[in-house]
Amino acid sequence: MTRRDAILILLGAISMQIFSSLIPFERPSINISTHSTFGSNPAPIDKIPPNPLLGLEREPPATTAPIDEIPPSKSAPTPIGSAIHLPETSIVSHAPGWTLFRDIYMANGTLFILSSSPKNFPPIRDMTSTGLEALNTPENIAAREPTKLNMDIITPEEAQRYWGGDVKRGEKNRVWSVEGNTMLFNDPGQFLNHYYHFVGELLLGTWAFWQGAFSPSHSYLDPTNLPPRKDITSTTVVPPSEPIKPPPVDRIIFAHARPHEWRDHPGFNAYFLRAAFPSVNVETEYDWKDRVDVTFAPDGHHLTRAWHFPTLLLTDRSAAFRGQYCGSQNQRIVSEAVEKMRGEGRLARNWWESVRRDVLKFAGADTKTKDIIKTVNLADPDILESGIDMAMPKKIVITYISRQDVKRRLIEADHEALVKSLRELVERKNSEWIKEGRKGTSREWELNVVKAEQMTKDNQIKTFGRTSILLGVHGNGLTHLVLMARSPITTVIEMFYPKGFAHDYEWTAKALGMKHFGIWNDTYFGERNMPNVDYPDGFQGTQIPVFGPTVAKLIEDRVAGLA
Ligand SMILES: *[C@@H]1O[C@H](CO)[C@@H](O)[C@H](O)[C@H]1NC(C)=O
Ligand SMILES: *[C@@H]1O[C@H](CO)[C@@H](O)[C@H](O)[C@H]1NC(C)=O
Ligand SMILES: *[C@@H]1O[C@H](CO)[C@@H](O)[C@H](O)[C@H]1NC(C)=O
Repeated sequence: MTRRDAILILLGAISMQIFSSLIPFERPSINISTHSTFGSNPAPIDKIPPNPLLGLEREPPATTAPIDEIPPSKSAPTPIGSAIHLPETSIVSHAPGWTLFRDIYMANGTLFILSSSPKNFPPIRDMTSTGLEALNTPENIAAREPTKLNMDIITPEEAQRYWGGDVKRGEKNRVWSVEGNTMLFNDPGQFLNHYYHFVGELLLGTWAFWQGAFSPSHSYLDPTNLPPRKDITSTTVVPPSEPIKPPPVDRIIFAHARPHEWRDHPGFNAYFLRAAFPSVNVETEYDWKDRVDVTFAPDGHHLTRAWHFPTLLLTDRSAAFRGQYCGSQNQRIVSEAVEKMRGEGRLARNWWESVRRDVLKFAGADTKTKDIIKTVNLADPDILESGIDMAMPKKIVITYISRQDVKRRLIEADHEALVKSLRELVERKNSEWIKEGRKGTSREWELNVVKAEQMTKDNQIKTFGRTSILLGVHGNGLTHLVLMARSPITTVIEMFYPKGFAHDYEWTAKALGMKHFGIWNDTYFGERNMPNVDYPDGFQGTQIPVFGPTVAKLIEDRVAGLA
């Protein structure tokens, strides 16, 4: 310790001494902030209006007071029984694995729903699980079923018994608010430390659910007058024309992941999260445990305090798999969030655009591209059908993500022939464009053959952000499709080992309003002839065949509006 440190510590100690002698309270730890509840000012928790949607707006500046503290009174303290008032829990929106709560409580790691009418809640197994890693064994499936230690429903009387304050000490209750809006991710590291699962599932689903929950429902529009929408699987409701700006995401808690466990190896999870939500606070398993540890007495048998979350979005992977879309159709947890909000007409067509733009801006990309969706005339069915509400990009940018240095990859000769076919296509298109005097209906084309692992993150984001046609072998790199602008030609082309198929990028592309095609060597499939999920031998191998001219022809047809 240097002399300077010693002086600083001494100064600190002296000022603490002066400071505490100025505080007129005997017990600053208990009533330190009662000043905010003096007189007729209600306690912070009571300021939340009863309307669930209104209540989620940004609250007035928070205090650290226990919620609903008794205003000091000269007469005898009010008996706890009549004075304690903890707001009851309500659900703003719910889909399997995705639940937005108001006024939920946590003690000893258990989420407590406080309610005098417990029947009004969805089955607990559709909201949470034990948060264990998922394996496909009957034992593991059983072990992920939630117990009363994961989530429980209690009455106001029970809450009072657990957390009622010590009257003699001037306490009313021992419930402490965690102000702001919290995302609680209940999953272990198993799927978090992977760019696709983190961004392409968790963040995408969180944003769809969060934004949708605050958006007015448009399902009152008469669906019988509208054509069925191809990009909506569940209903024919009309989406809002523009997304709303939901309240800020203040805090993300990874309850079962340690600090390194939500980060992926290339570092895209953290990059994306910080770019999209620069102010969000991240807590991990350790921080959650800190909160858990202070909620029960040293004897380990009595709950002593609880945390109150005014707004909490709980996500649970196992619970999402209990839903019909994720569980039996596409194995995407995000699909439960998206289908729910779409089905209720709460998800605007460009619901992801604001996040995409924020990330592009963060990377230093030019976001003034002509990819903004024009205001949609909801009454015009053609517009809804064809997607002509979106502008064509000025330039047709094809980006092929080469995986030739990575485990799962193409036969080397096929890769080379593919690049040759793509070059020929782009050269031919550009000579047509030049022949037409660089105007008319033809456009300039550009081909990027990239190895993502050799690019900086900023450059990856910039490149994929201006890509219209993304091409690659099935793999994590295709997650970058979330950065592509929607346009009438935006397309993801995914090469599989023949007969192989998985929904990961197919579902994600469609959820964002892009077309997806799968390639099996010299054939392709789209929405109309989509195969079943299959991982044949060779799927993960280094000998994936592809016939370059088939891919080039598909791209040409797609841009011409023929595929
Ligand atoms: C703080 O609490 C103590 C007893 O716990 C009480 O004597 C004192 O009056 C309280 N102060 C205020 C400002 O409420
Ligand atoms: C607290 O949680 C632990 C672990 O989940 C459990 O074993 C214990 O019974 C709980 N204690 C109380 C009082 O709920
Ligand atoms: C891929 O397609 C090409 C062109 O039809 C064909 O010559 C080649 O044998 C095919 N490769 C495999 C492995 O089927």
